[in-house]
Amino acid sequence: MLQLEQERIFRRSWQYVGRQDAVAEPGSFSATRVGDVPIVLVRDEEGTLRAFLNVCRHRGSLVCEGSGKRATLQCPYHAWTYGLDGKLVAAPRFSREGGTDHEELGLVQLQLETWGPLVFVNPGPDAAPLSEFLGDVPARIAGAGIELDALRFLTRVESELDANWKISAENFLECYHCPTAHPGFSAVMDVSPDAYLLEMHGGRMTQHGPPRPEPRGSYDPSGEVERGQFHLLFPGTVINVMPGRPNFSIGPIVPLGPERTYRFLDYFVADDADEAWIEESLAFDAQVGAEDRVLVERVQAGVRSGLLDEGRLLPQSEQLVAHFQSLVVDALA
Ligand code: FES
Ligand SMILES: [Fe+2]
Repeated sequence: MLQLEQERIFRRSWQYVGRQDAVAEPGSFSATRVGDVPIVLVRDEEGTLRAFLNVCRHRGSLVCEGSGKRATLQCPYHAWTYGLDGKLVAAPRFSREGGTDHEELGLVQLQLETWGPLVFVNPGPDAAPLSEFLGDVPARIAGAGIELDALRFLTRVESELDANWKISAENFLECYHCPTAHPGFSAVMDVSPDAYLLEMHGGRMTQHGPPRPEPRGSYDPSGEVERGQFHLLFPGTVINVMPGRPNFSIGPIVPLGPERTYRFLDYFVADDADEAWIEESLAFDAQVGAEDRVLVERVQAGVRSGLLDEGRLLPQSEQLVAHFQSLVVDALA
């Protein structure tokens, strides 16, 4: 199933891969992946940002690892060398042995688009524009008073979970579990079904709601941003905004194996946000994340038995989970 999901979902979907300023200088590169597709982001001499399939056209080795700054990208196997524009510029013995088709052997370029400081890549050959993937999310973020370009990058928080990627996504898509499992979050946010609203439009699933009239606990939700908004863009790009000072976090849900999932979140905040508030908000989010880890790993351990054919979803509170499942089914059908 995961192989099918990689082929039919992740290899043809948009995914957030990182920040433009992580590959800011001409010649800088950064190797990463979209689903299981190895890619490399490259800033060329003219300042153009590109994404390439990080796979050598000779015999398929990964070309780059990690990140750094180079004038060319050289495969470590037989030293085929690519320019920052992806073109094959040197291949030992190639001409001597009759090779003439240098031009056709460049790194395969993939669709890359940006939203403010954020970089997205879609490995599919006929990717719809990024704007279709993002839909009304940029307008909602701007509408909350958040100017993405004015925010400061804070940190990337990475995690791996012993659970299938869909269990992680489904956990994100409902707050039915919040009163039980997230006492801290529920002391700040109004998670009652009449306040915490769910919406879906194609591949976009959105939850939004206000803080409690009298929030309690460790996180102060007062500030310019009045409501929280939490989006999942199918298959696995997560976007969070909490009420409070301008803030934004984004990252992918990436399957590593049938029962293993990698996630990261890049956190951004207003330039003038004070350190105490920043620390408080990161700790608050880490607490919610730790609680969710236990939940999804317990679900994985439960469904692994294989002896329960199906679960039961609440038609209102879990409608985004149902929608997500139908998107997966449609993609695999
Ligand atoms: S596989 Fe890259 S040079 Fe041979
Ligand atoms: Fe949760």
